[in-house]
Amino acid sequence: MKLGTPLSDTAVRVMLLGSGELGKEVAIELQRLGVEVIAVDRYPNAPAMQVAHRSHVIPMTDPQVLNGVILAEAPHIIVPEIEAIATEVLADIEAAGMATVVPTARAVQLTMNREGIRKLAAEALGLPTSPYAFAGSAEELAAGAEAVGYPNFVKPVMSSSGKGQSFVEGADEIADAWTYAQDSGRVAGARVIVEGRIDFDFEITLLTVRSRDADGSTRTDICAPIGHRQVKGDYVESWQPQAMTPAGLAASQAIAAKVTEALGGYGVFGVELFVKGDQVWFSEVSPRPHDTGLVTLASQTMSEFALHARAILGLPVDVTQREPAASAVIYGGMDAHGIAFEGVAEALSIPTADLRLFGKPEAFERRRMGVAVARGADVEQARERAREAAGCVKVVRG
Ligand SMILES: Nc1ncnc2c1ncn2[C@@H]1O[C@H](COP(=O)(O)OP(=O)(O)O)[C@@H](O)[C@H]1O
Ligand SMILES: [Mg+2]
Repeated sequence: MKLGTPLSDTAVRVMLLGSGELGKEVAIELQRLGVEVIAVDRYPNAPAMQVAHRSHVIPMTDPQVLNGVILAEAPHIIVPEIEAIATEVLADIEAAGMATVVPTARAVQLTMNREGIRKLAAEALGLPTSPYAFAGSAEELAAGAEAVGYPNFVKPVMSSSGKGQSFVEGADEIADAWTYAQDSGRVAGARVIVEGRIDFDFEITLLTVRSRDADGSTRTDICAPIGHRQVKGDYVESWQPQAMTPAGLAASQAIAAKVTEALGGYGVFGVELFVKGDQVWFSEVSPRPHDTGLVTLASQTMSEFALHARAILGLPVDVTQREPAASAVIYGGMDAHGIAFEGVAEALSIPTADLRLFGKPEAFERRRMGVAVARGADVEQARERAREAAGCVKVVRG
């Protein structure tokens, strides 16, 4: 693909479907290469819209409206940033050869539904996963939970960021888990997956990049493992590298290579794995940059966002890690519009610390409003600095 001049006949146009903080960083990287960026989301002034050439506010789950915006903008590349999209439209657009869907329409469809990706990983590819069952009613769920055992996790098949998930310790909690999944899933009458709990030592994200090699073939590069801590299914802290046994790392990389090859296309994937010693289980995969990968803003020569921008444009990538680093999330802590941040100078006076304040128009108690990143001589020092920097930043009413 020949790069051109934005807003001219030579422009390469990229449309982001979803314009959150991860999309914002991808947009910035694309802007640096003179790509024309069109940001789409369901609310105005979303983070990536603020750094795009144009934006559209639409319900992305409405096939007709989504199709209309794609036809009107005629992007060369479509980059889904979230899962709640009418993906059948993307499949049609790809089939008609009208745009490239990143990484592929099929990958986007498979990964937006836990049933699709779990069956691909566990049944088609034979990757190790937690024991699991799917259920479409409270009765089926009770039977599935007996089969996989307790404790377990119940999750709507269409959900992300921990929404609608329950940790279930016994049969008496199953009815509540079913109701909770119905209330918070993306669609009503939703199916759920019940997964036996894996008693892991730690969990990692392996950022895996599929890009075009000099000879035109596809190559796969895997970043150093990112460790992270989740609270209620949402990441609060991540670091790179996560120390692992050589056998554990090799098994993780083999799983990441296999699942990303099956999904295909170009771009960054976030492969989530559970690790216990040398033993590794596949958990899930995002066909896009991963929130825990925000740490790469500090740790790598090229952040996951720069890697994604390059890979989707068919350009070479470099996954080298420079230094140990960490990220720590800054939450809204309140429900308010047009918040302000105090303590930014204090945060930035911590050695190596840096901030991203996402510019989201509205804060919620548990909404991610920013992130602190820092480097260190080792991961411990980096984590301490990132946590300290995030702790300095106080969200206040405007
Ligand atoms: N089967 C499991 N065993 C142990 N922990 C789990 C399991 N499933 C989920 N978790 C925990 O919950 C987190 C969120 O689950 P995940 O399936 O990644 O949902 P989401 O799509 O919302 O990120 C995981 O990162 C992990 O910490
Ligand atoms: Mg996850």
